Amino acid sequence: MTEPIDERPATDAMRDTVIDGTHETDRLDPRTDAPSRPGSPVTMPPVRLGAIEVPTPVVLSPMAGVTNWPFRVLCEEYGPDGLYVAEMITARALVARNPKALRLCRFAPGERVRSLQLYGVNPAITEQAARIVVDEGMADHVDLNFGCPVPKVTRRGGGSALPWKTDLFTDIIRRVVKVCEPAGIPVTAKIRVGIDHEHETFLEAGRIAQEEGCRAVTLHARTTAEYYGGHSDWDRIGELVEALDVPVFGNGDIWGAEDALEMVRETGCAGVAIGRGCQGRPWLFADIANAFAGSDERVDPTLGEVCAVIERHAMLLTEFYDGDERMAVHDLRKHVAWYLKGFAVGGSTRRAFMECESLDDVRREIGRLDPSMRLPERIKDKPRGRVRFAKKVHLPYGWLDSRETTRQEREALFGDDPMDASY
Ligand SMILES: Cc1cc2nc3c(=O)[nH]c(=O)nc-3n(C[C@H](O)[C@H](O)[C@H](O)COP(=O)(O)O)c2cc1C
Repeated sequence: MTEPIDERPATDAMRDTVIDGTHETDRLDPRTDAPSRPGSPVTMPPVRLGAIEVPTPVVLSPMAGVTNWPFRVLCEEYGPDGLYVAEMITARALVARNPKALRLCRFAPGERVRSLQLYGVNPAITEQAARIVVDEGMADHVDLNFGCPVPKVTRRGGGSALPWKTDLFTDIIRRVVKVCEPAGIPVTAKIRVGIDHEHETFLEAGRIAQEEGCRAVTLHARTTAEYYGGHSDWDRIGELVEALDVPVFGNGDIWGAEDALEMVRETGCAGVAIGRGCQGRPWLFADIANAFAGSDERVDPTLGEVCAVIERHAMLLTEFYDGDERMAVHDLRKHVAWYLKGFAVGGSTRRAFMECESLDDVRREIGRLDPSMRLPERIKDKPRGRVRFAKKVHLPYGWLDSRETTRQEREALFGDDPMDASY
């Protein structure tokens, strides 16, 4: 049971509503502990999003600080037929032409589909951001973020808090679709199950998204309260598939190609979206493309091959940061930790990578590694990245009291849109 803590102060109307409590999936084993079962063959037809075809229905799920164009280019090289989404850009930052936001909107020349994700709470600002995307030809596809569980975002009513307010949710989608569709830019929505299990929204949100013209919906089958803990409840993906006519992309806890096949078998989803599973493993998109084509072929790189990817990633990041090697190599650090995960390289080597300040430093550290080393079997296709529950869910004060925003709520919220480029 989760209980909203009602501590409404008479004078301070903007204190947060906070949900605190235990989580239903606390008691469930992580999905990946379940024995893998051989399943029936899966055939995956392409997914069409308006004018855009996604021949292999696999999506790189947007990840802030991860899915900038250098990483997307690496992923797309392994799986040329998927859809690779940039990390979320706040609508207000785009409208304000924040340089960091503009950098995140850049694409590499070879990207097949330029896919942006917008996040906004204010429908008018989000519409303006969509207008910029259209007028300046910035992207071919727009995804809308209604799934972010980060307190900084939900306490402003954004991300996964937003579908609870059906008027705002509908208004944002309606306005963005109205701007994008005539320009041939399909709009999709990414949602969670709800705020918690007492406040589920996914079926209703999916229907609204479909009615308002979204071409697909991606469901990360956790609640905000579950954050990244427990496991993604794939049954909910199956329920959404049943409820909607537009394609549903299932998301959550795909760590290897076999998981992708399993999700499709269990839920009937039209495609899958991959987040943490591809951190440090862009070749997962090749594995999934093979699996969806009925092949057992999988990429099993040696450490030497992984290092070649690290070096290339470093060079692409240097380009991304306009030649600033230091920024590139700092950005690379988290990726290196993921690339090396599971390899028998010592703590001092990992630390040395974390202290690199230039491409030459990275190359020097690469040169010290044993290129023939392989990843132990038990490490492959296992969970990586964030895995914890939310300590508390922060929402705007009184958010759960009604399904529509009051005038006062709108005024309070829209004066408080985040100006930063990302969270
Ligand atoms: C570091 C990180 C950053 C994320 N940033 C975003 C984001 O910008 N937009 C978004 O819709 N989801 C974001 N997500 C959520 C992922 O897209 C995905 O829905 C989630 O990780 C579940 O999928 P997975 O189990 O495959 O990781 C982020 C997740 C992580 C771990």
